[in-house]
Amino acid sequence: MCNRKLGNFVVALAVVMAAAVATQASTAWAEEEDGGEERTWTVAVIADLNGPYGSKEYNHHVHAAVEWIRDELQPDLVVCAGDMVAGQREGLPYAAMWEVFHEVVTDEFAAAGIPLAVTPGNHDASEQPRFWEERIEFARQWKMRRPQLSYVDDAFYPFHYAFVMGPALFVSLDGTGIGDLDDAQIQWLDRVLEENRHLEVSILLSHVPQYAVAQGREIEIFNDDRLAELMQRHDVDMMISGHHHAYYPARRDGTFFLHASALGSGVRTLIGEEQARRRNVAVVELSADGIESVRAYESPDFDEVVDHSGLPESVGDGELKIWREDVAPQSGH
Ligand SMILES: [Fe+2]
Repeated sequence: MCNRKLGNFVVALAVVMAAAVATQASTAWAEEEDGGEERTWTVAVIADLNGPYGSKEYNHHVHAAVEWIRDELQPDLVVCAGDMVAGQREGLPYAAMWEVFHEVVTDEFAAAGIPLAVTPGNHDASEQPRFWEERIEFARQWKMRRPQLSYVDDAFYPFHYAFVMGPALFVSLDGTGIGDLDDAQIQWLDRVLEENRHLEVSILLSHVPQYAVAQGREIEIFNDDRLAELMQRHDVDMMISGHHHAYYPARRDGTFFLHASALGSGVRTLIGEEQARRRNVAVVELSADGIESVRAYESPDFDEVVDHSGLPESVGDGELKIWREDVAPQSGH
């Protein structure tokens, strides 16, 4: 068997094993339910938790969000869209900064048995060569705290990697810089999406978004045509992103673009609005049929849900226009 075939076989075996585990879990859940309803998977979305450069503390929104997610929401998975520590400056005490993040966030979820899947942000692991020490520290930290997930490609964990949970493929992109993704990563993403196209749901997780939503960050996006083409060709359901520090649930060309709020410092105002909105934690519900719902619960009490109808109907213009998830048209074509 050639290496490529052997690789495909190993991936296929991993997928079969993951499916078997998922089936077992699904059966166990169904047996617990009186009504015999199908199970759902709850995914909490957090992003941009850091404070000022070099900070070794987190604000009350971060603490409150962790407590609510751990004790009340109790999701199947937490995804973090990057910017967990306040790096991107040389000579900071990186290991000590990560120690505090783990104490406040990572270890709290781990103790509750909730996996935390991360993607690198520009303040965690910038692609810029002068911050190479931060990337090494990022890799070291997350290899030590690698969550137990059904990985289908982990050769570049914790940068770009993919895993399966229930009906969904989750793909972390190494997206810490603006502009096009590198060719190798585009080719890798194409292959991972192709190999896992039997799954009902596909969700990309990236720090930098494909489209802009926040004032002052209009050009801090990928706007990568190859990524847009890949998402359409593989019917990618959702792209979760951070960096813009403003919640906006959008669609374009069939993909849901979930722009996450910031929990840390520097909340930003949506393009077209006059002031920044409250911080929140977004919650995505999945079932075997696909994405069931997306809701955002406002900090610090998390008992109020963001009314999507109060958000702008669209953001941006022309090729960069995206529409609120419930508004038509949602296509640039
Ligand atoms: Fe960022």
